[in-house]
Amino acid sequence: MFCVPKHYEDVLDYIMLPAGIINDRVERLARDIFDDFGSQPIIALCVLKGGYKFFTDLIDKLQTLNRNSEKSLPISIDFIRLKSYMNEQSTGQVQILGGDNLKNLSGKNVLIVEDIIDTGNTMRKLLSTLQQYKPNTVKVTSLFVKRTPKSSGYKPDYIGFSIPDKFVVGYALDYNEYFRDLSHVCVINEAGKERFAASI
Ligand code: HPA
Ligand code: MG
Repeated sequence: MFCVPKHYEDVLDYIMLPAGIINDRVERLARDIFDDFGSQPIIALCVLKGGYKFFTDLIDKLQTLNRNSEKSLPISIDFIRLKSYMNEQSTGQVQILGGDNLKNLSGKNVLIVEDIIDTGNTMRKLLSTLQQYKPNTVKVTSLFVKRTPKSSGYKPDYIGFSIPDKFVVGYALDYNEYFRDLSHVCVINEAGKERFAASI
């Protein structure tokens, strides 16, 4: 009943969240964040690639609030990618790729914008790695949090949706780099997993 690209028609099981519902939820998250933060400048840190749709929509909505409100929340933006160390378990650190000089985070209020929290291990490591740059505060928003037995128990400050333990794609979330060009968040079927399997 919804429009999906022809190239994905046969490989989707079902639509979990249509784009419009995501849009409405992001609008509300933006308002919660806007209301909670004071008027101190924030640095919004997008975790690429999966976070880019959520990030741009969230920042757009924060800008709209800024235009239409007495309060103002100055926002600067930055983009990072994360790479886990080979011995990630032992170090508890992640390598942060890209981004401006992270020393700029010193004394600032940082909002990390992530697409999905699964086990929570990556986010825990990112938070611990960022501490060395001495930010004033760090808050995390994740559009999705998976209800999975593998969860470390980590919970972000702002959650879009709590979702069942399924592999989801769309709205910039990918399966081996496919499905980022799908506007709804969907569950892929077995044929999709096979067709877009990683080539070894
Ligand atoms: N989809 C895409 N990327 C992910 C997921 C998911 O369900 N979980 C962790 N990374
Ligand atoms: Mg992510």
